[in-house]
Amino acid sequence: MAIEFSNDPRPVHFENREDKEGPRILRRRVDKENQTFSLFNVKPLHPIIGAEIEGVDLSKPLSPQVKEELNEALLEWKVIFFRNQDITSEQQIAFARNFGDLEVHPFYNTPKNRAKEVIQFNRNKIEKGFENIWHSDVSFREKPAKAAILRLIKVPPVGGDTLWADMGAAYDNLPDKVKERIDTLQALHDFTPSFAHLMSPEELLKRQEEYPAVAHPIVRTHPETGRKLLYVNPSFTTRIIGLEENESEELLQYLFRQTHIPEYQVRFHWEPNSIAFWDNRATQHYAVSDYYPYERLAERVTVAGDRPF
Ligand code: SIN
Repeated sequence: MAIEFSNDPRPVHFENREDKEGPRILRRRVDKENQTFSLFNVKPLHPIIGAEIEGVDLSKPLSPQVKEELNEALLEWKVIFFRNQDITSEQQIAFARNFGDLEVHPFYNTPKNRAKEVIQFNRNKIEKGFENIWHSDVSFREKPAKAAILRLIKVPPVGGDTLWADMGAAYDNLPDKVKERIDTLQALHDFTPSFAHLMSPEELLKRQEEYPAVAHPIVRTHPETGRKLLYVNPSFTTRIIGLEENESEELLQYLFRQTHIPEYQVRFHWEPNSIAFWDNRATQHYAVSDYYPYERLAERVTVAGDRPF
């Protein structure tokens, strides 16, 4: 990566110290912070990302006020969790529709007896999970998903957690020289590295015509909060436009590693009927695949989004 440091004779570690040690800049939102919520209880699981919501029954229609407060809680905490929500697939869909139109995933098959908007992750001895890579859902689409709602139906006796990373914090903490380098760059996002294994060569060619790689800014702006977000992920981002291949690869690998920083992450331990609702623009997630050969069954409904800018 052509990030030039100064001629300072001190070792890079010293010059670059704030990138390695000491407190991180951790802000929940940049436009407003520390909102109070009057219609439910918010129990933070981390200083900036992830909170459990208590006192909302997802089996019932939401009032406009609860819907508005939940949206604010989502913008502030980026992923919100609900426990003990014994809801049906239809109720999960109805809940998701409060936040926008739903999308149909282009590559996952719809499970039997489910609406086409439902994706099932049935991970077991035969179908092993491959969601253990940091990603933002469907970033290979021109208009990637705004949000997703995941419901755990079967939970392994131990393991099977999911982690989310705050991509606003990841951007905020980048050295200024890296920010300057990436602020106007775009990268290609392509489904092929993650989904080609599900297809025959013929189908892959057809699908690549239907869903060619798309360019998105490396730094996108959150359409509701105005926050800058680091927007590349190792699942779908393949290339930085305008850079030589090795330079693109080096810079991408550096940017991908930001998601690994624990200060930006929340880790959620599932119970049956736990629900996670995440802002897919502001986060990436990683489903830990540590429970084989036990079964883990989850269903996701995804809210359609806008073109990143
Ligand atoms: C996903 O990548 O949407 C699945 C996450 C999970 O199974 O925890």
